[in-house]
Amino acid sequence: MALKNKVILITGAAKRLGREIALSLAHEGATLALHYHTSEKEIHSLLKELRDKKITVEIFKADMAKVLDITTMVRDVVKKMGHIDILINNAAQFYPTPFGKISEKDWDNFLDANLKGPFFLIQEATHHKIQKIINIADSSGPKTRGNYIPYWLSKTGLISMTEILAKVLGDSAQINTICPGPIDFPEDRERLKNDITIDPQEISKTILYLLKEMTGITGNTLFIDRGRRYR
Ligand SMILES: NC(=O)c1ccc[n+]([C@@H]2O[C@H](COP(=O)([O-])OP(=O)(O)OC[C@H]3O[C@@H](n4cnc5c(N)ncnc54)[C@H](OP(=O)(O)O)[C@@H]3O)[C@@H](O)[C@H]2O)c1
Repeated sequence: MALKNKVILITGAAKRLGREIALSLAHEGATLALHYHTSEKEIHSLLKELRDKKITVEIFKADMAKVLDITTMVRDVVKKMGHIDILINNAAQFYPTPFGKISEKDWDNFLDANLKGPFFLIQEATHHKIQKIINIADSSGPKTRGNYIPYWLSKTGLISMTEILAKVLGDSAQINTICPGPIDFPEDRERLKNDITIDPQEISKTILYLLKEMTGITGNTLFIDRGRRYR
């Protein structure tokens, strides 16, 4: 699928991986609907950078944990941009929650923002001609996620949801999950210095490949972790 003028909604687009994905899709001439929540300064800086490059782009604020925010955002995107061709569910909560100290608030925070939000966003977007959906999960399994149980459950839930929705959506839209390993951002380099990391461009290039080249892949989980999960 050529991405020129396709309307692509990216959640959590203000910085880090979301920003990298937005820049790579802008390079393809896509029309961008960029979601953010709290990163006002960063999203406005990205908006300016993209508009300076003559990219058609709008920004949309929403709390992914709130279904009303999500339905309002989809309505606003469609009002401004006509429809939504592609959705990238990238926004997520991430922080450690050691077993024994996990609160109900932590549990709800992860499951709401990382699983409930993407589900309702997909459900809303399917009313508006969506053709491709990519969910971003995580390559880590129980071995490395003992300190992150609600996060990990939210991401494995996202993988299961992708498989179920592939059946539900059938030929109308392709839906896949990408599972990155730890991503090499400068601010995380010290923390990850002994880990196996992934260049953010590896992930944006994989997204381009799925969006541009592939029509027969749906309900899949694609790991991009240099085999870290087996080591
Ligand atoms: N970084 C890694 O090493 C790594 C590894 C494996 C998987 N992943 C996955 O890859 C994706 C991107 O990673 P990242 O490190 O770039 O993510 P991130 O910086 O931790 O978060 C991305 C964005 O999610 C948004 N967000 C969080 N909670 C939200 C909420 N309740 N409502 C709306 N937006 C919310 C934030 O938007 P605002 O800033 O605007 O509030 C944030 O900028 C995530 O899904 C993550 O789980 C990352």
